[in-house]
Amino acid sequence: MDNHLTRRHFLHTLSAGASVLGLSTGVAASPRPSSSMGGKLAILGGKSVRTEPFPAWPIVRENDERGWMEVLHSSEWCRAGDGHFATQFEEKWAETLGAKYCVVTSCGTTALYTSLNAVGVEPGDEVILPPYTFVATLNVILMQHALPVFVDSDRETFQIDARKIEAKITSQTRCIMPVHLGGNPVNMDLVLEVAQRHKLPVVEDACQAHTGEWRRRRVSTLGALGCFSFQASKNLNSGEGGAILTSDPVLHEFCKSFQDQGRGPAGAAFAYARQGSNLRMTEFQAALLLQQLTRVEEQSRAREQNARYLTSLLREIPGISPARMYDGTTRNGYHLYMFRYDKAHFDGLPRARFLQALEKEGIPCSGGYSPLNKERFIKETFNSRVYRKMYSERDLADWEERNACPENDKLCEEAVWFFQTMLLGPRRDMDDIADAVRKIAQQAGALRSQS
Ligand SMILES: Cc1ncc(COP(=O)(O)O)c(C=O)c1O
Repeated sequence: MDNHLTRRHFLHTLSAGASVLGLSTGVAASPRPSSSMGGKLAILGGKSVRTEPFPAWPIVRENDERGWMEVLHSSEWCRAGDGHFATQFEEKWAETLGAKYCVVTSCGTTALYTSLNAVGVEPGDEVILPPYTFVATLNVILMQHALPVFVDSDRETFQIDARKIEAKITSQTRCIMPVHLGGNPVNMDLVLEVAQRHKLPVVEDACQAHTGEWRRRRVSTLGALGCFSFQASKNLNSGEGGAILTSDPVLHEFCKSFQDQGRGPAGAAFAYARQGSNLRMTEFQAALLLQQLTRVEEQSRAREQNARYLTSLLREIPGISPARMYDGTTRNGYHLYMFRYDKAHFDGLPRARFLQALEKEGIPCSGGYSPLNKERFIKETFNSRVYRKMYSERDLADWEERNACPENDKLCEEAVWFFQTMLLGPRRDMDDIADAVRKIAQQAGALRSQS
């Protein structure tokens, strides 16, 4: 038995009692035969490091069923007026995060869309965003016929490089939209400093950061508005769903009205304060969220504990660089576990091949996003009549060059993700992940020559 396996056995014994807060989904604790670690790579016909599945998602218990059935039998499925469950969840989520108000919406995209309307983003305006994000962050800007302005990524953290925001601000800039990608908080000191200097509202896209904290304050409560998604993959999940957090009564009133067809504060059925839309959450979604919320804290602690341990293992492997957190981060929401893969330390093995090998070892993984600023549909959108009317030919012609993000291009080639559910099981799951990466590192040359 080699040193690693001896140490692993020791750690396994140590962590057996801890078994991460009882969140394991019943995966048996049988020690793996050592041949799976030292043997041939699974992609080359050897035995996989891991054959057991990682924890399944969503986790459904009796209380979820009770919540769901209560709505079903109440006959009030739609959030009419104040909505019993929707209002309860809004109060609970605002209190949990330390904001004055919460407005729930049909999804994260509509939460962002409502927020951009609330801060008055219109055609002709520019909105600052990172290129390393889900397409929804961009789509809501295009929905307003505003111009997206990308600020390059900080490859070490996978987040917007906040030091580069100011250089992108012009007289047309209307709003800054940082995204706490993967749950890892953006450097909010720098974002808020530059936003204050230029008197710009900040709309935080916290869609992946339900328990993220910056200097002990929950992300989404630092800017003018903060948005969440409760889509099926998210750490707090109701299939689909969204929420907007704010402590500003005027913005709160706007968002509440806008997501309900522009109805006025009095809530009269056919009296309208403004143009709006139907972006409402259903009572089913809200009832489910109230029940799922009871487990968020426990699940988050498990992820944090496992992620810390996984980082301690992975950072010892040359060529693997786990995403760094900024100094002000007091809590990472871990929707994703992200690291950079440097093929130079893996005998030049391309990332795509590394990912395939990892999958074959029984470790689900992804190469993550491609560069959003280079999406062809953006230029096609700029070809529409409204964009050609609103922006000068030069604005649109220069756009690609002005929005080049070379650091992000590199990040998109190096990134590897693990999913939040993989951090919910026992600590030995992290050993499996690290074992699989080490096994590939040891045999990368052999794999490369056979590819
Ligand atoms: C960063 C980010 N922003 C926005 C969204 C949009 O949320 P939804 O899918 O709930 O509309 C998502 C969802 O994946 C996201 O990850």
